[in-house]
Amino acid sequence: MDLQKAIVERVSVRKFKSDKVEIDLIKKIVEMAGKAPSINNSQPWKFIAVTNKEIIDKMADLVNKKIDKVFPDSHPKSAQIKSQVQSFSTFFVDAPVIIVVLQRPYEAVVDKILPEEGIDHNEINKMRNFPNIQTIGGAIQNMLLTAVDAGLGGCWLTGPNIAARDLEKLLDIEEPFTISACVAIGYPEGNTAPRAKKSLDEIFELID
Ligand SMILES: Cc1cc2nc3c(=O)[nH]c(=O)nc-3n(C[C@H](O)[C@H](O)[C@H](O)COP(=O)(O)O)c2cc1C
Repeated sequence: MDLQKAIVERVSVRKFKSDKVEIDLIKKIVEMAGKAPSINNSQPWKFIAVTNKEIIDKMADLVNKKIDKVFPDSHPKSAQIKSQVQSFSTFFVDAPVIIVVLQRPYEAVVDKILPEEGIDHNEINKMRNFPNIQTIGGAIQNMLLTAVDAGLGGCWLTGPNIAARDLEKLLDIEEPFTISACVAIGYPEGNTAPRAKKSLDEIFELID
């Protein structure tokens, strides 16, 4: 598929057919993720594809439980907001594949000297506007576009991160890796019309 067509046609897909996704396609999606740019070519990522329905159910259960625990019942809008958050954080339960995106901390060259000046790793990260997090974004977009190219659809999720520590235990994820995001993948069911985006005029400025 033409690259621009894939970019334009990509849409967050939250409803999937029950069809399985072939392992070779899952591997291709992850392989393309690994081609993304990364700060200092650090490639601070790993990807776990979960296709086991029992484990996917457990993941959704952990997220639901955590949302139940964290959201107060006292606020008048709590029930409505909670149910919205629950739905956007756990719809992955019906996806045939969840790719869990892991990242490890990035140590920059400047980390070797700036702490001596009283500027710690967190401060350096802030100064650079979190290059480690920006790095993961490129990898995920590669995954989504590769999925579109293969006739699949996907959705990037950070909602499940609310239960990241529980999910890491369930999936045996060990330090230095932590969960950065999940990507639900499958064959789209229903409407896949791209969502409206701002026009070029609204987002572009030229300083010539
Ligand atoms: C960093 C990030 C986190 C997101 N987390 C979620 C999520 O937890 N649940 C969800 O349903 N969609 C999530 N999305 C998808 C956005 O809601 C979606 O991209 C946005 O509404 C625009 O729609 P489109 O992707 O179809 O163009 C996330 C997207 C990004 C970039």
